[in-house]
This record gives sequence, C-alpha cells and structure tokens, in this order.
Amino acid sequence: MTTLLRIDSSAQLASRSLTRWLTGLFVDEFRRVDPFSRVTIRDVGHEPVPAIDHRFIEAAFTPESSREDWMRQRLALSDQLIDEVIAADILVMGVPMYNYGLPTALKGWIDHVARIGRTFSFDLARGDTPIEPILHGKRLVVLSSRGEFGFHPRGMRAPMNTLDPAISACAHYFGVRQSDIMTIAIEYQEFKDHRHTHSVEKAEAATIKLARDLAAEHSIVQAGVE
Ligand SMILES: Cc1cc2nc3c(=O)[nH]c(=O)nc-3n(C[C@H](O)[C@H](O)[C@H](O)COP(=O)(O)O)c2cc1C
Repeated sequence: MTTLLRIDSSAQLASRSLTRWLTGLFVDEFRRVDPFSRVTIRDVGHEPVPAIDHRFIEAAFTPESSREDWMRQRLALSDQLIDEVIAADILVMGVPMYNYGLPTALKGWIDHVARIGRTFSFDLARGDTPIEPILHGKRLVVLSSRGEFGFHPRGMRAPMNTLDPAISACAHYFGVRQSDIMTIAIEYQEFKDHRHTHSVEKAEAATIKLARDLAAEHSIVQAGVE
C-alpha cells in the first residue's frame, strides 16, 4: 500500500489557494487510480509548528539516552512529523512562493524534520561531507504557485528564486534524491491575464498526469513486492 504525505503550507483559505487546489487534485487523482493508497495530511499553513529555539536545539543534540523529560516533550512534535515522513512513500508539498522563497510555515516544518540521529547522521570522520541522510527511497512532488513568472533556471527571475534551491538542498533529510523531486508551478497569479489562465490549465493537466503515472508505477512496484 502506498502512503502519501500531503503537506500544505499556504496561509490562504482553501477556497483561495492555488497550491491547496493542486495538492487536492493530486491526492484525489492518485486515490482514484489506487484506492488502497493512504493519505496523511499535515497542514502547516493553517496550523504552523512553533519556531525552533535554544531548548529544541539542546534537546535535539543531547543523546537520546541522556534526555530529560522536558527534552523529550520539546521533541515530541518533531518526532511525530518525522514519523509521518518515515511512513510516507511520496511527499506531496503545496508550496506558495512568499518573498521569493519558502513560506515560513514550510521552513518551520523542515527545521523540525531535519534532526540529527533521526533524519541525518553527522560524523567528522567523513571529512568535508560529515552529513549523511538516514532516510531513502522517497519521492517528492512540489506543487507551487507564484504571482510573477520566469523563475525556471533560464528565466528572467531565476536569480531571485530561493524557493526551489531551498527544497532541493533539504530533500535528503526527507529521504529524497535530487532526481526524485518533481515540480509543477503555476505562474502569473498576480497578472490575472490569459498567461495565468494558460499556466493554471497546464499545471492542472501536469498534476493529474503525474498523479496517474506515479499511482500506476507504485501499484506495479507494490504488486511485485506482495
Ligand atoms: C505574503 C505573500 C508574498 C508573496 N511573495 C511573492 C513573491 O515573492 N514572488 C511571487 O512571484 N509571488 C509572490 N506572492 C504571490 C503568491 O506566490 C501567489 O499568490 C500564490 O498563488 C500563493 O499560493 P496560494 O494560492 O496557494 O496561497 C506572494 C503572496 C503572498 C500572500
């Protein structure tokens, strides 16, 4: 059985959010093709996780066997978020562009999920690359929306795009290889003209196709395992 983890990070209400519309579309289509798939929803846009602080950092860097009760309590939400990632085969992220980067809500989620001993190990014996991911084999679908346009690698606003590089830099914490990140983005939302309409239509078709393809592929893999 395939498990999807749907993570929404738009601050907007569902009726006004393009990324929530895309994540909903993806999950509905995936479940239409594979009705046995399971979906966990983590809505950090509407229920943000608290920012990490010095207590969180002290708790996270104290070895598990030496942790005091307050440390375990401070890490409880982080543990739950990480357990959701571990249980998932595919992460489906709704990611609006805010001020050319990630919404704070999604960055907060990443700060809770990137945890020494749970999602990465750190060893200076590895020389200049001391960090190694612990999780592997997951896929990441990024469903984004932007008010402006031209954020793709050769686009006119490529140097301003800090959203896609941030996700790609942190993907290893979620057990996702670079080649397993699939991104679909609506553009021109602020222009509200025919280019936006066209972009919405393209994103809708691409999202439905990706959901179908991944659902079919995962069903085949599951059938081979069972
Ligand atoms: C607080 C805020 C900041 C934004 N910053 C940018 C930006 O830097 N660049 C951009 O292209 N669009 C920006 N936008 C437009 C959003 O990316 C766009 O409205 C998108 O559709 C939001 O996703 P949502 O519809 O799921 O809420 C911003 C919107 C908001 C509300």
